[in-house]
Amino acid sequence: MNIHIKTERLIIRDLTTQDLDGMFALDSNPEVHRYLGKKPIKNKAEALQYINDVQKQYAERSIGRWAVELKDTGEFIGWCGFRLYNDYTFNNHINFYDIGYRLRQEFWGKGYATEASKACLQYAWDVLKLDTIYGITERNNEASHRVLLKIGLNYVEDFYYDPENMQLRWYQLKNPN
Ligand SMILES: CC(C)(COP(=O)(O)OP(=O)(O)OC[C@H]1O[C@@H](n2cnc3c(N)ncnc32)[C@H](O)[C@@H]1OP(=O)(O)O)[C@@H](O)C(=O)NCCC(=O)NCCS
Repeated sequence: MNIHIKTERLIIRDLTTQDLDGMFALDSNPEVHRYLGKKPIKNKAEALQYINDVQKQYAERSIGRWAVELKDTGEFIGWCGFRLYNDYTFNNHINFYDIGYRLRQEFWGKGYATEASKACLQYAWDVLKLDTIYGITERNNEASHRVLLKIGLNYVEDFYYDPENMQLRWYQLKNPN
């Protein structure tokens, strides 16, 4: 198992097919998808497809979202980390790194997204040596807005994402080093 980061309460590691049940629990919940286009998945084949896509990104882009596991129990609680968008354009940007997170509902409100994302950001500067990290949220996703601000990203502007007919917010932070 490829572990990238350990925080006080979390292990951040590569996503594997052993996370299938956890991914299904995560992405089949309509509440989780409330600000993600309202398209929760319906079966485990879709969850497996997601894991396979991320693993393809690890191979082709050297980066992709990572699994988040609780240190105490070993439970899979969701994912966090980076996606390299080199396949389509957001807010007139292409080839940029976005920070993201998605947690199972029973683990919300405990500071896990902030803890994981803060550590990922440090990893982006210290290990990946990235220049700029971007963030994107749906305009009404206040929890996500809070997380991005708490880890230090700056809100830049709102923009309209035509393919999904969504009003989104755009954030960025430059490498301080
Ligand atoms: C977004 C998400 C990852 C946050 O996870 P989390 O572990 O609960 O986040 P944290 O506990 O680290 O911080 C959440 C912050 O948002 C605040 N918050 C949570 N729900 C809120 C709401 N409905 N309105 C306003 N603020 C809210 C919390 O109070 C906290 O801020 P604070 O520390 O200043 O009080 C989680 O809600 C989630 O998985 N949502 C579904 C997927 C999603 O929308 N992902 C983001 C896509 S851009």
